[in-house]
Amino acid sequence: MASTDRPTTVVVERPTTSDIPELVSIWWDAFGAEAMQRIFPQTPDGRRFIERSFEKFLGPAPGPGELKTECLIVRSPDTGVPVSMAIYHVVPAGCSEAKRSWRARWPAFDDLSDLNDTVLNDFFSPMEKAHNHVVGDRGHVFLETLATKKDFQKRGYGAALVRWGNDLADQLGVECYLDASAIGKPLYEANGYVEQNVSAIVEKQVSASMLRPKKHQG
Ligand SMILES: CC(C)(COP(=O)(O)OP(=O)(O)OC[C@H]1O[C@@H](n2cnc3c(N)ncnc32)[C@H](O)[C@@H]1OP(=O)(O)O)[C@@H](O)C(=O)NCCC(=O)NCCS
Repeated sequence: MASTDRPTTVVVERPTTSDIPELVSIWWDAFGAEAMQRIFPQTPDGRRFIERSFEKFLGPAPGPGELKTECLIVRSPDTGVPVSMAIYHVVPAGCSEAKRSWRARWPAFDDLSDLNDTVLNDFFSPMEKAHNHVVGDRGHVFLETLATKKDFQKRGYGAALVRWGNDLADQLGVECYLDASAIGKPLYEANGYVEQNVSAIVEKQVSASMLRPKKHQG
């Protein structure tokens, strides 16, 4: 299929642990820029961290009051290999800051010497501050990551994954939140997200804080 052909339907599904090598490949393809490699290095340690992250995201359902993670993919219609993925967290109302922090969402990496705690914290902390400021402890659906392999972009796969989260939030009657890259922002705006002003909270913003209001019932 030519990259400009719009597929009639995009099937969104849950991956299994056997898809993890392909999920790492999507991650590395979409986040391969030099600046991102400083945070998520493309080395054996860096690979282990991303593998471990997906093992955690695909892990058993949490207890009450905990974040529930949902990993979704779109497969290539030709090969069946995952080419686009989203990681969502369903954050229950009243969930503590500690339970929704980046350190709780992502796996431990103290045995992986290529991962640098300061670098990761500098990456996640400003987003976490803005996120806490905008949503506080209200229940919401949080889109942590969205990525489509370069060769499969602009086919509507990213949009289908965003709509999946919107539908979930509407079923739950909650807002959606995400931290947008400049590349992702137009897609989110087209799907109901609105940028929030967090300049009073975060000095040097590298991503846009975006909120999608909850759907009015009735
Ligand atoms: C952002 C990202 C996930 C979008 O994924 P995608 O699968 O290309 O998303 P879509 O195809 O649904 O939409 C992207 C654009 O393609 C357009 N498009 C969708 N289907 C199309 C088609 N068949 N033909 C041409 N254009 C199409 C959409 O209108 C959209 O245009 P816009 O950006 O001007 O609004 C992808 O670019 C990516 O992985 N980037 C690198 C990682 C990143 O920055 N992720 C976001 C972190 S917040």
